[in-house]
Amino acid sequence: MRFNVGIIGCGSITKFRHAPEYKANPHVDEIVFYDRNFERAQHLAEEFGGRAVARLEDLLTDPKIVAISDCSSNEAHHVNTTKALLSGKHVLCEKPLAISVEHAEEIIKAEQQSGKKLMIDHNQRFTKAHQKAKEILASKELGEVLTFKTSFGHQGPETWGVTKTNATWFFRKDRSHSGVAGDLGIHKLDLIHYLLDDEIEDVHAFSGALDKVDEQGQPITVCDNVVCACKTKKGRLGTASFSWTYYGKEDNSTIIYCQKGVLKIYHDPSVPLLVEKQDGTLVKYDLEQIQTNDNQTSSGVIDAFIQCIVKDEVPPVTAQEALASLKVVEKILASS
Ligand SMILES: NC(=O)c1ccc[n+]([C@@H]2O[C@H](COP(=O)([O-])OP(=O)(O)OC[C@H]3O[C@@H](n4cnc5c(N)ncnc54)[C@H](O)[C@@H]3O)[C@@H](O)[C@H]2O)c1
Repeated sequence: MRFNVGIIGCGSITKFRHAPEYKANPHVDEIVFYDRNFERAQHLAEEFGGRAVARLEDLLTDPKIVAISDCSSNEAHHVNTTKALLSGKHVLCEKPLAISVEHAEEIIKAEQQSGKKLMIDHNQRFTKAHQKAKEILASKELGEVLTFKTSFGHQGPETWGVTKTNATWFFRKDRSHSGVAGDLGIHKLDLIHYLLDDEIEDVHAFSGALDKVDEQGQPITVCDNVVCACKTKKGRLGTASFSWTYYGKEDNSTIIYCQKGVLKIYHDPSVPLLVEKQDGTLVKYDLEQIQTNDNQTSSGVIDAFIQCIVKDEVPPVTAQEALASLKVVEKILASS
């Protein structure tokens, strides 16, 4: 089975993940690029092959396009993803699913109405160390999870996004809405839900715009740092920190403390996954390092999305799961 795919939004995530991974997928014939900035679509069509179109309708009405990635900025997801679903396309929507629970619920309504597949790009689930950690936790060889500590921080999105200036939409309340909470935080909230097979139901948080400024040199109006204390439905306690101001190497680490040992993920740069057992045994898993802004390897997400279409399976990250993480982001913002 081979078909065409469309991409809405031709910025950094399309350039580094969606376009190369679609290009490498054997089920994809042609990639059709759309951005409201047409030149960006043209550039990526030249770089990866495929073609650029000038109007969203050109993607939505093209019967050869079976699936669409929504890689537009956060505030546009509920418009683009909803339209794509209702036009009969399967959709891979970037995280966060939307800028509010209300918008996310509109998208989910469109998913149900359309009967098409909707997957959300919570790519942290797909890394080798996270997959192995999930397997170890599910086997209960370390007993039950008691507590956790997770962080995600880097130097900020102004050097990542296609604009490469402090005028980036990531810093704007009307477009990003939740700052670092919905940008980096939501990745780890989803990861904790996935690894622990549980959901954060209570959260106390502090957040602030500590250092980032907009293009006029004024403090940004979304948070660049969040610290939180969390309690899950199953009674686990944990802490989480998300930052755009870690001005050294990226921190993408998670530690899970269980009854019979500790799992350390991306904690030591030379050991992606380390298990410390209660009896002192250390088990080192020599797995691939996580993708970072400076180290782009295949995320596996696009292959998983295409596979769920080809095999007619439930997407490995559903909109309901993404909604659960978005609800935690809203609680973080309300609490702080
Ligand atoms: N899964 C991940 O690890 C990850 C990493 C980075 C970004 N993202 C997400 O991907 C999305 C895009 O981020 P990015 O880093 O590529 O941003 P970016 O600023 O580099 O690119 C966004 C592009 O979308 C286009 N765009 C915005 N709104 C549009 C609309 N309504 N119609 C058509 N085009 C539109 C812009 O012109 C721009 O070219 C965001 O939702 C972001 O949160 C996910």
